[in-house]
Amino acid sequence: MSNIKREKLVVIGNGIAGISTVEQIIKLGGNFDITVIGQEPHPNYNRIMLSYVLEGSKTLDDIVLNDWKWYEDNHITLHTGVTVTAIDGERKVVTADNGLTVPYDKVMIATGSKPFILPVPGSDKEGVIGFRNIADCTQMLEAAKAYKKAAVIGGGLLGLEAAKGLVSLGMEVTVVHLMQDLMESQLDSMASGMLKRELEQQGINFLLGKQTTEILGDTRVTGLRFKDGDELEADLVVMAVGIRANTGIAQASGIEVNRGIVVNDYLQTSWPDVYAVGECCEHRGACYGLVAPLFEQGQVLAKHLCGVEGQPYEGSIVSTKLKISGVDVFSAGEFMEQAEHAVITAKDDWRKTYKKILIRDNIIVGAILFGDVSDSASLQSMIRKKTAMTDEIYDSIMGTDRAGTGGGKAFSLEKMPDDEIVCGCNGVTKKAIVDAITLQGHTTVDEIKACTGATRSCGGCKPVVEQILQSVLGDGFKAAGKQGICPCTTLDRDEIVAEIRAKGLTTTKEVMHVLNFSNPEGCSKCRPAIHYYLAMLNPVTHQEERESRFVNERMNANIQKDGTYTVVPRMYGGVTTPEDLKKIADVSLKYNVKVVKVTGGQRLDLIGVKKEDLPSVWEELDMPSGYAYAKSLRTVKTCVGSQFCRFGTQDSMGMGAFLEEKFERLDFPAKFKMAVNGCPRNCAESCTKDIGIVGNDGGWEIFVGGNGGTKARLADSFCKVKTDEELVEICGALMQYYRETGKYLERTSEWVERLGLEQIRAVILDDPKQRKELVERIELALQQVEDPWKKVLNDEKLRYTLFEDARPVISK
Ligand SMILES: Cc1cc2nc3c(=O)[nH]c(=O)nc-3n(C[C@H](O)[C@H](O)[C@H](O)COP(=O)(O)OP(=O)(O)OC[C@H]3O[C@@H](n4cnc5c(N)ncnc54)[C@H](O)[C@@H]3O)c2cc1C
Ligand code: HEM
Ligand code: SF4
Repeated sequence: MSNIKREKLVVIGNGIAGISTVEQIIKLGGNFDITVIGQEPHPNYNRIMLSYVLEGSKTLDDIVLNDWKWYEDNHITLHTGVTVTAIDGERKVVTADNGLTVPYDKVMIATGSKPFILPVPGSDKEGVIGFRNIADCTQMLEAAKAYKKAAVIGGGLLGLEAAKGLVSLGMEVTVVHLMQDLMESQLDSMASGMLKRELEQQGINFLLGKQTTEILGDTRVTGLRFKDGDELEADLVVMAVGIRANTGIAQASGIEVNRGIVVNDYLQTSWPDVYAVGECCEHRGACYGLVAPLFEQGQVLAKHLCGVEGQPYEGSIVSTKLKISGVDVFSAGEFMEQAEHAVITAKDDWRKTYKKILIRDNIIVGAILFGDVSDSASLQSMIRKKTAMTDEIYDSIMGTDRAGTGGGKAFSLEKMPDDEIVCGCNGVTKKAIVDAITLQGHTTVDEIKACTGATRSCGGCKPVVEQILQSVLGDGFKAAGKQGICPCTTLDRDEIVAEIRAKGLTTTKEVMHVLNFSNPEGCSKCRPAIHYYLAMLNPVTHQEERESRFVNERMNANIQKDGTYTVVPRMYGGVTTPEDLKKIADVSLKYNVKVVKVTGGQRLDLIGVKKEDLPSVWEELDMPSGYAYAKSLRTVKTCVGSQFCRFGTQDSMGMGAFLEEKFERLDFPAKFKMAVNGCPRNCAESCTKDIGIVGNDGGWEIFVGGNGGTKARLADSFCKVKTDEELVEICGALMQYYRETGKYLERTSEWVERLGLEQIRAVILDDPKQRKELVERIELALQQVEDPWKKVLNDEKLRYTLFEDARPVISK
């Protein structure tokens, strides 16, 4: 074939929109000499995955979509690190900043967007950046090594992903948002509130309803000032307040521009032979900021350029998925109810899920899913197709077995239409995936990705692709579906514990490295869990890794809504003295404690202590920590008992205080609560405790697995004992067995149900040898514990770096 007839196609912008259109053109056999000019010094990469690079679960190499060789193989001339400055429509050439001129027959502008930088004083200071490209990402990775405090302005998708990434990099991060709700363009207040709570648990701080008016600092940023006069310290500021289409070239050349480069339904601009695609263009008044529309646009444009007849582009219905591990959020179409909507909602506080579907004139027009997003693909497709609500759809999505949970419904391959889009980003249908499995023999998600493109962009459709693989292959589909303790691994709790034992692993880093975690730093789910398993297995040699603990445990205090902390000293068995009360009163007055509260666990909570005052408060109280923040023994609640009560048959106060002193400070898989009662009247409510003890005439009865929280469970009667010694022995063995077999964060109420009471009885009651060994192991672990505040107060460096960092760090 002669080259003379080939048309010259110049693509400006080496991003996803430009290159995915080129891929389509190549698929269609288009006859072009293609030149791509890109400003960034990289081949086309998956911009979406920058969030994962920042979070640490992917490297820059992982996110390259088309490597250098791809351009070569497809005979594409590539100029990287070159910025196009204008298009000359008369001479039909494109010119660039380095003097390059390239003649064209057709030109495609695919220049994307740039972050919007708030026009406030100081926004040009060093350390103020957007989050758009590899350069920004690298700058954040560098900043995290040198600085501690980051502020992210903007509580949308991008801002939250940036914030999570920076938290994973060890920074203290505050998201500042103008509105009261996060992601208010995609979520209602309910979902937004659930999201905020989840992200706070993952370590992100929030300042909502705050308008930034100034960025402080000399050359480098030192903080933000808000309209209400408040200030926030920050040595890195990421602006994620929105994007603006890159329209400079079109403007400079005289092509019609509004918010974006104006295009018609075939992506043609106001100039002949000049097209625009992706985030830089404006179609029917809409500019998009997600990849699914640009893929749809690219398909239309590729067909048009190749002379293949096809449908015009009529706009896209966008959906959103937040890419933060452990947070599943989906939103598509309309989400704020108006008078004309019929609304179906279901909220489940136990599973932390929320579902909302909006219906107008019986047509499904929008949805929000939080926590469980397994219906996202089908809802997205129904909204796109303007599907009418039916009883069958209702049952399938809302579930009829358990009100509103959708629980129990199975994925049905047959019910899914062939043309249903599974991967919204890359427009891959169910049929394309099934064909890839049945006709081409693919058996894993990665193979499906390579073959069809599904899961290649945001990864949100991976669960559905797995379900299709499972349905088509049955038992033939193995590994990819296996659930690990978190997205970093496919290993479950027992496998990890077995590996730690077998290989003698000693640190979280080592576990993650040796067991091939996809993220070598782990995530907020696996790190504290592995840290717990390591300490439980090697109580004597284990080295504490403070950074692997949840923030409350790291600080030995509960952080409150307003950023202050609480102090809960021990009151063994709920008993105190006038001297201790006086000390508490004096310290509360001196340090301006906001509220002194009697807790549900029978002690006093000093609420509203400033972080920098925490060490002095503890020093002056000179009382042991009550561990009100820890996955550890909280309190042993007691009734008055035989010392004073006329019904009492056992000394519950004495036994409660003894047990609390004996077993305090030890780490458990989850928080652990106890109660001791002097008689079966049970005034201290044993039935809702992890271990509840009830006195009777001849001794004690032990209950296990109670819970008074959101998923209440009455404790099971475990056994009766005659003596105090037996009671202490069995409690110790029970606790150690739970420590050794519980999954991290699993309360005894779930543990008892998982293992079965009979199994626990068999180990502890029927097998004296095992019971004795369990007691020996808990005794050994108990010898290692020490009061956390004593430790902080005795370690000046720790004290200052953790709590009083406004003052200089004193190193010895
Ligand atoms: C961190 C992050 C996470 C995201 N997550 C998601 C997500 O989960 N789901 C989703 O759908 N979308 C997501 N997005 C948005 C998505 O990345 C964009 O919609 C998509 O990249 C737009 O593609 P584009 O090709 O139009 O623009 P771009 O990807 O921006 O590509 C344009 C390219 O053109 C270059 N260029 C600009 N001007 C010139 C010039 N004058 N000369 C030469 N080259 C030029 C730019 O340097 C850039 O490389 C995310 C974006 C970011 C930054
Ligand atoms: C970050 C989240 C939480 C914090 C900071 C917190 C804090 C506390 C504190 C300080 C106490 C007083 C107990 C004491 O004296 O030690 C307490 C009691 C209690 N909490 Fe929580 N809690 C949290 C989450 C929960 C959850 C999720 C549940 C339910 C599953 C729960 C159920 C209870 C119950 C039932 C009590 C009363 C205990 C008793 O009477 O002995 N808490 N909580
Ligand atoms: S449980 Fe029994 S002993 Fe304890 S206070 Fe109540 S009545 Fe008295």
